[in-house]
Parts: sequence; structure tokens; C-alpha cells
Amino acid sequence: MPSNYIVEMNHISKHFGGVKALENVHLNVVEGEIHALIGENGAGKSTLMKILAGAYTKDEGTIIIDGKEATVFSPRSMIDMGVSVIYQEFMLAPDLTVAENIFIDKLSNSGLMINWKDLKRRAKEQLEKIGFGHISPDKKVGELSVAYQQIVEICKCLAKDSKVLVFDEPTAVLTHSETEKLLELIMRLKKSGVTIVYISHRLEELFAISDKITVLKDGKYVDTVETSCMTKEELVTLMVGREISQLFPERDSEFGEEILKVENLSTADLVKDVSFTLRKGEVLGFSGLVGSGRTETMRAIFGIDRKTSGKITYFNEEVNIKSPKQAIKLGIGLLPEDRKKQGLLLQQSIRINTSLVFQQTDGVINHQKEKKQVVELLAQIATKYGSTEDNVDSLSGGNQQKVALAKWLAIDTKVIILDEPTRGVDVGAKTEIYKIINKLSEQGVGIIIISSEMAEIIGTCDRVIVMREGEIAGELPKDQMSENNMIKLAMGV
Ligand SMILES: Nc1ncnc2c1ncn2[C@@H]1O[C@H](COP(=O)(O)OP(=O)(O)OP(=O)(O)O)[C@@H](O)[C@H]1O
Ligand SMILES: [Mg+2]
Repeated sequence: MPSNYIVEMNHISKHFGGVKALENVHLNVVEGEIHALIGENGAGKSTLMKILAGAYTKDEGTIIIDGKEATVFSPRSMIDMGVSVIYQEFMLAPDLTVAENIFIDKLSNSGLMINWKDLKRRAKEQLEKIGFGHISPDKKVGELSVAYQQIVEICKCLAKDSKVLVFDEPTAVLTHSETEKLLELIMRLKKSGVTIVYISHRLEELFAISDKITVLKDGKYVDTVETSCMTKEELVTLMVGREISQLFPERDSEFGEEILKVENLSTADLVKDVSFTLRKGEVLGFSGLVGSGRTETMRAIFGIDRKTSGKITYFNEEVNIKSPKQAIKLGIGLLPEDRKKQGLLLQQSIRINTSLVFQQTDGVINHQKEKKQVVELLAQIATKYGSTEDNVDSLSGGNQQKVALAKWLAIDTKVIILDEPTRGVDVGAKTEIYKIINKLSEQGVGIIIISSEMAEIIGTCDRVIVMREGEIAGELPKDQMSENNMIKLAMGV
């Protein structure tokens, strides 16, 4: 039967050891549409796309691209069939230039002399085509911002004449305005005839750009629906299997004494004269554009980066924190924004990653007790995993984030700094994380949340500090927190 499907994946199954990642899953995408793929953390979205990309082999099922059944499965053969995937974790070579990265496959295949001038010219053309001509083809990719690295990835796919582009959570690493630019670009790509498969946990994005949505749950196919026929609530119910009436659970805001006071903090590179206080049980938000100095401020407080001036008072005593170890001893925790680089030991087990901090503070390790505690901690935030002995990098993106967070719940922290705590986390699990934040706050922990999702700041924080170019641009109490007010401060208007 002829169809206008450009991608037909049917009856796809895949297991990893004992974990059934996919069971009889379907994804049918009409040519020229933007088709969203959604589901909770660990639902199997990335696995399905890695199968489509030829990076993983399926156990069962058929894949038909543009009417031709795929019989050979390798990244090369799937690219030849016209499919490219932009992964959750980029695949760029940081030490090569933009131009080299865009044409990397052609470089390694030709065997002939490389015409560098021509390569640069074509890279420039490709970048201009999608409206990013100002990125220099000569620049090393490792020196670009994450947003620009993503643009290079997109160019790389377009240079391969891909008919189908898959984006696996592209906006998880982007700021508000970068996200808007990317969504615009995706709409333009659609107009030029490219078919898009789009994975995201941010439902507003799906409603803004997608034509259809396929929902997966626990490795199984749930449904494919027209976006325009759905409400956000209906979609969440499909995805989570239950209604989430309240994304942000209520909390009694009761503050105690001041526990942290930062005065005129500066660092060598960015942070200038930052002062603020945090009280017991308070949830303080830090908003601002990426690069505004939020992360850097927290790194200096936590003893990762050196401060050049400033005074930190902790429980009425001046402290000079020189290392994270010292910060942890004092009862300060930090969940870093980049779990891959700083938050997790990827080659180590889930157990080791979760117990990392309480081991450091407990001294003697009792393995039985350790394992029990790890299991309990992970259950608290509904983490999905096979065994505590599995490597943490075998987990889905969102579940890795939960492991990174879980370790701080085990110890007696007085202040906890969460840098983008729900990045890549699904809506159901987000609520679980917000509940934990509330619980910690009710126990009297002072909490700092850095987030680029303004709704998250508004929904969880008692007060927000907005940073701009390394300085505090302003502060908003609860009743004045709005996206508008925050954007104004962040942009300096
Ligand atoms: N290489 C692997 N080895 C073992 N298990 C894996 C591997 N890759 C994925 N899994 C498991 O397969 C399941 C599906 O994972 P997948 O990454 O596809 O989820 P996802 O829907 O993309 O989730 P997220 O929203 O968190 O990114 C998870 O239980 C995960 O732990
Ligand atoms: Mg994923």
C-alpha cells in the first residue's frame, strides 16, 4: 500500500540485558511534518532514535525510509538513506574547526587531497543558508557556545543531504532566546522540505512547532495524535498515565535565621560585586541569561573557583571555602549544571555515584547499609534503573540527573545549590523533584536554584535574583516574579 510516510518504524523491540527498552513500538512520520516524540525519562525515545540512526541494532521490527526497507543497519547506511540524528550528547570533534566538523565524513572518505579553501567556502555557505553566517568556519568547535555547537551539528546533517532530521532534546542546553532561534530555524527547515522528528520534555515547544505527537511509555507505544487536537493536560495524562493536577506543589514559606551571607563577591573572570543572603528554609532563585555569571557565582561559593574578593558568612561566622570538600564538610551541597562533566562518574556504578557524598562524610562504609540507602534514595525520586551495580551512563538522560541529585539527599546539608536541577527531566519526575525541594525547605535547608526555565523559578522560589553580565541586575519578591519582569532585568531594559 503506498503511503506518504517518509519514516515507517513498526514493531520495534530492543532490550539491553534484562532491561526491555522497547517493545513493539511504532513511529510513522509523514513527509514534511514536524513529528514530536515524547515520554517520561527512560521511555525509550533516545533508544528508538539510535536504532533509526543505525547506532543500535533492533531485536525486531521493520524500518522503511521513503518507501525503501532498510536492510543494513549502520550509521553510514542510515545516513545514505537520508536520516541524521542530532543526539542528546553531541558528536562533534572539539579540536577540529567548524568547517572540518561539518564535512567530517567527506574528509575521511575522499582519500584525495583536501581543498581547504573550498571546504571553508562551502561551510560558510551552509551556515549562511540557515542564518548563522556569522559563525566562523575557522573557529575550533570546542571554543563555541553549546548553542553554536548545535548549529554546527545541524549544518553537518544538512551537508549530508538528510531528508529526515532527528533532534533529541535540543533545547535542554539552550537559553530562552537561543531556544526561540532554534525553533524558528526548525520551522524554516520544515518549509524547505526537511522532515523533523523532535524530542523534548518542554510541552510548550511541542505545541509551538509540532504537527503530530507520538507518545511512548515504559518502552511501549501509547498513541500518535494530532497536536492541534490536544490540550497540555491530555498530553501529560497520556505520557504519565495519570493526571498531574499541579506541576508545582504548594509549600509553606517559613523562613528562619540567616544562614548564608555573601558580600561583594568577585572572581577573576566574570563575577562582579555579588551580594545576597539566604535564610533557613528559603528557596532563592537565580535567573539570567547563560553566561550571566550565575553558575560562576555558585562555583566561587562552593570553592571550585577562587574568589578575588568578597566575604562569605555562614551561620554568623566568616568562612574561607577553598575546596568543594571543605564546602561539603560545612554542609553545603552543589548539583552542577553539567552532569556529564561534573555531576557524575559516568564509568562508575549507580551505587557508587549515589553514595559518593555520604561516604565522604560517614567515614566507614557498611556495604549492606549503603546499598539499602541508595535504593531508598533513588526510589524517593522515582529513578528508573535495572540494578544499582549498572554503570550510570547506561541510564536515560533524565535518570542520570536524578542520580546526580539523589546523592545530596543522603547527607545533612544546610545549604544546597541546584544548578538547572530538572534539565532533561520529564514532567512527572519534575514534580517529584519539586516535592523534594519543598521537603528540604520545610526541614530548614536553604536552597538556591539556578534555572533558565522561568516558569520553574516562579513556581518554586520565594524570591529571585536576576544576574546580568556578572552582576546582580535586580531582585524580585514573590509577588513581582513574572517572566516579563525577569526578562527585563536579564536584558537590561
Ligand atoms: N546502552 C544502554 N545500556 C543499557 N541500558 C540502556 C542503554 N541505553 C538505554 N538503556 C535503557 O533503556 C531504557 C530507555 O532509555 P532511553 O535513553 O531510550 O530513554 P529516553 O526516553 O530517551 O529517556 P530521557 O527522557 O531520560 O532521555 C532505559 O531504561 C535505559 O536505562
Ligand atoms: Mg533520551
